[in-house]
Amino acid sequence: MNTSQSPRIFTDKETLARGLAGELVASLDSIQRGGRIAHVALSGGSTPTLLFRQLVKMDPGLDWQRVRIFWVDERCVPPDHAESNFRVAREEFLDPLGIPESAYFRMRGENDPEREAERYAGLLMGMLPKVEGIPVFDRILLGMGSDGHTASIFPHQADLWDADALCTVGTHPESGQKRVTLTGKVINAARVVTFMVTGKEKRDVLDRVFRSEGNYPASRVKPVHGRLQWYIDSDAAGHSA
Ligand code: 6PG
Repeated sequence: MNTSQSPRIFTDKETLARGLAGELVASLDSIQRGGRIAHVALSGGSTPTLLFRQLVKMDPGLDWQRVRIFWVDERCVPPDHAESNFRVAREEFLDPLGIPESAYFRMRGENDPEREAERYAGLLMGMLPKVEGIPVFDRILLGMGSDGHTASIFPHQADLWDADALCTVGTHPESGQKRVTLTGKVINAARVVTFMVTGKEKRDVLDRVFRSEGNYPASRVKPVHGRLQWYIDSDAAGHSA
């Protein structure tokens, strides 16, 4: 049953990041108290950086040995490239919190994209608990582009969302940059999917997504058994506020 909670709207993106950091840490802590390892997938782009910085500021004291960190998508560039989602996470989150390399599993942007998509799918199958044969994340953190893309599934390739594979290769519509990305099969299997959307430039598309208008990849995030959360700032909320 897809339960999409009404969006949580914050005055600004820093307050949003602080609110989400607190909720995420509480959720991971609860999973750990239940004796389980928590599996989380991070998106790229600029918004997650705000969350990373809040998590570092909080220094949540989680047992990071009992969190497994994966990626929703990765640009097909080396891990030290300016555009690497992993590089940003490592610099802003993993290293500052001393999270050991044994706790995270990057998509290897330097590899052949198609082969890396296959490798990563195999990694998820081998490491995550499964429901109906599909790997289940405890938490997937998503962003949304002003074109309604999410992960690295863009409107011009919206059909990738329904790919049979757990991971596939998307292409940025302007730059042509290839990206390895999770598909809808994995994203919609998660226990909790959290969108973080900020900025006026997202307002119109967000409003259309909320009104189920248009055929945006972001509109196709409908967790089968889990919860969908929207963390948005007042700029992005606009008239939805
Ligand atoms: C990426 C992300 C992408 C991102 C959106 C929003 O690799 O770029 O996974 O899907 O979430 O483009 O990006 P911002 O957070 O920068 O607005």
